[in-house]
Amino acid sequence: MEEHMSRNIAIDGPAGAGKSTIAKRLAKELGYVYVDTGAMYRAMGLFFTTRGVDPHNKERICAAARDAVVTLSYEDGMQHVYLNGEDVTGKIRTEEAGKMASATSGFMPVREHLTNLQKELAARENVVMDGRDIGTCVLPNADLKVYLTASPEVRGKRRYQELVEKGEKADLEVIISDIIKRDEADMNREVSPLKQAEDAVLLDSSDLTIDEVVEEMKKMCREKGLLS
Ligand code: DC
Repeated sequence: MEEHMSRNIAIDGPAGAGKSTIAKRLAKELGYVYVDTGAMYRAMGLFFTTRGVDPHNKERICAAARDAVVTLSYEDGMQHVYLNGEDVTGKIRTEEAGKMASATSGFMPVREHLTNLQKELAARENVVMDGRDIGTCVLPNADLKVYLTASPEVRGKRRYQELVEKGEKADLEVIISDIIKRDEADMNREVSPLKQAEDAVLLDSSDLTIDEVVEEMKKMCREKGLLS
């Protein structure tokens, strides 16, 4: 295994599995930086949306990707995503940005730019990084890899609950079918598809609370000597 000075934890899994909630909590417990890579793909997605680029037009996406510079900064421990110098953190949490991110994340120029940035960050800092290809492509030598998943029904219900709590209208059936479609797109794309790394631990959170999942991950960290 390649030597690296910083400690890296990779969390992958499908949309709505609770990766960001768990990764954020774990990073806090360990004193690591939490890196949300989905936010970077969402910022790219936003760029294409504002430029009116068709997400299925490979040539136009690849050409336009050269003009998008995505960077991260941390303010009070919170990740902020910048698109060509503009803080777009507040603009990327929409269903549309998620779909656009999923549709455009399969193109090589989009991935190259973002994975380079992710690798640089992980080489410098102790990180808990979540996404789709962290254990398989971005950090193949991570100290701990977890594949966090839950059934589409459970993920759909969690998302539904979130929207209802925010006072937004939601249709559970539509949410579940969108989740299944997004899983299919993320798992079946040609470039860096979502899949469990061979050395990743599978953790199904369908019947677990957030606290239970965090405890489970802390146990794994202790076993690896990452936490005392
Ligand atoms: O985790 P999220 O829902 O914010 O991610 C949005 C989309 O970005 C996801 O559907 C696929 C893409 N993505 C990716 O291709 N690779 C990553 N490491 C993270 C996200």
